[in-house]
Amino acid sequence: MHTIDAPDPTASPDDTGLDPARWDRLQALGHRMLDDMFEQLQTLRERPVWRPVPEEVARRLSVPLPRRGIGAEAAYEAYLRDVFPYPLGNTHPRFWGWVLGSGTPVGVLSELLAAAMNPNLSGLRSGAIHVERQVLAWLKEMLGYPATSSGLLLSGGSMANLVGLAVGATARAEFDVAAEGWAAAPRRPVVYASAETHFSVEKAVRTLGLGTDRLRYIPTDAEYRIDLAALDAAIEADRRAGLHPLALVGNAGTVNTGAFDDLERLADVAEREGLWFHVDAAFGAFAALDPELADRVRGLERADSLAFDLHKWLLVPVEAGAILVRHPEAQRAAFRVSGEYVSHVAGGIGKDSTEFAELGPQLTRGFRALKVWMSLKAHGADAYAALVRRNVEQARYLARRVTEHPQLELLAPVPLNVVNYRFDPGDLDGGGLDELNHDILVRLHEDGIAAPSHTRLGGRFALRVCITNHRTRRNDLDLLLRETVRLGADLLEGGEPASFS
Ligand SMILES: Cc1ncc(COP(=O)(O)O)c(C=O)c1O
Repeated sequence: MHTIDAPDPTASPDDTGLDPARWDRLQALGHRMLDDMFEQLQTLRERPVWRPVPEEVARRLSVPLPRRGIGAEAAYEAYLRDVFPYPLGNTHPRFWGWVLGSGTPVGVLSELLAAAMNPNLSGLRSGAIHVERQVLAWLKEMLGYPATSSGLLLSGGSMANLVGLAVGATARAEFDVAAEGWAAAPRRPVVYASAETHFSVEKAVRTLGLGTDRLRYIPTDAEYRIDLAALDAAIEADRRAGLHPLALVGNAGTVNTGAFDDLERLADVAEREGLWFHVDAAFGAFAALDPELADRVRGLERADSLAFDLHKWLLVPVEAGAILVRHPEAQRAAFRVSGEYVSHVAGGIGKDSTEFAELGPQLTRGFRALKVWMSLKAHGADAYAALVRRNVEQARYLARRVTEHPQLELLAPVPLNVVNYRFDPGDLDGGGLDELNHDILVRLHEDGIAAPSHTRLGGRFALRVCITNHRTRRNDLDLLLRETVRLGADLLEGGEPASFS
């Protein structure tokens, strides 16, 4: 059979074969792909949340480089057989692990549109540049962050933390760090953050060469918020020791429990001490959309740099995050670029060709702005505000159901959308409970029932449910608790445990 990629006998010798010989066939294949995707999205609830990749499939995905192509149709068949049936599960209504957004159908289509236009958002002129500028303006408006700030879309929260701290470190260094490097620092820099801070901040400190020995993890209170007295004491001790307090990281929605540091007070401390104030609001930023929750993010607008994700609570497909910086000059100073090949021209494609490239580490940048723009245009900011409210109410509902059940224990306060709990039949010690709940978690995943993740709180193994999912319904949460108790009882009666270490 003539496949869509087979050489066309009428083709010119200049044809590469990378565009199809038969566009109509590739178009038909494209339509089939869309149909398959939409069918899958409409039937998620009937499928397991997750299932492991069988050995034979993994083997088929580990073969030598193909020298000759098999054509797009055959490649798609291979995808349908070996990739498509094994999703991570985060599009499913009962996925609540880590912090992963569920994605939306409009987001899926936007990715296709962006790939077809395939622009580079370094700054080179195209409609895409205006879309990213527009999206950044909307995000500032949504979060109440100054319209005069600069910003950039990035791959996610980790990159946003890295870029925010890079700007802060360059701005607050007491010497020309870009030229001389940190080894030349007259006083060694120190960064402060609560012990509940996401590891991406530590990664950023490491990557920037600031030294993790001088990342001060400040203890938290019973609600997992930074202890302000301990912060003051640490800054004072460092000053006495001749160090340079450089930056302070605040949390709006910690990864473990969704806790909010007192950002207003942290902004005061930063101002008083001359620290760069960076806020990691990966998912908590969107609490700003809800009038009842908005109080928790008060002070966020005073951050020198603000990092947040769009693939979490804004549900755009992975990857998308953003950094906003109050001081555009500082952001440009940290990432300035030069080269004859990008020098000024008065017009054409290359006018201001590095507008975005000089705000972050990348030169060639994808059109991730489109999925955000399409989503906000299609659904409107109010739909996302309603989603935040719905997920927070679902978390409160789940927490209430946990506390009402004699064999379930709530392990942390629920200030936002994260619930930590465990099964406790009443006659096990701490180690036994950890082991049992670990085994429950593995069974929930491997039986395809639901996907919470886990953490440790006060040394106790917790089943952790983080709801950034527009498909979840209350009865999904009821099912989770029912299955937790059923599996717990089953495992106690000698059901197959998972190995625990
Ligand atoms: C609070 C917090 N900060 C930062 C990150 C890192 O974001 P990303 O995974 O998008 O890099 C996460 C991820 O879950 C997070 O929860």
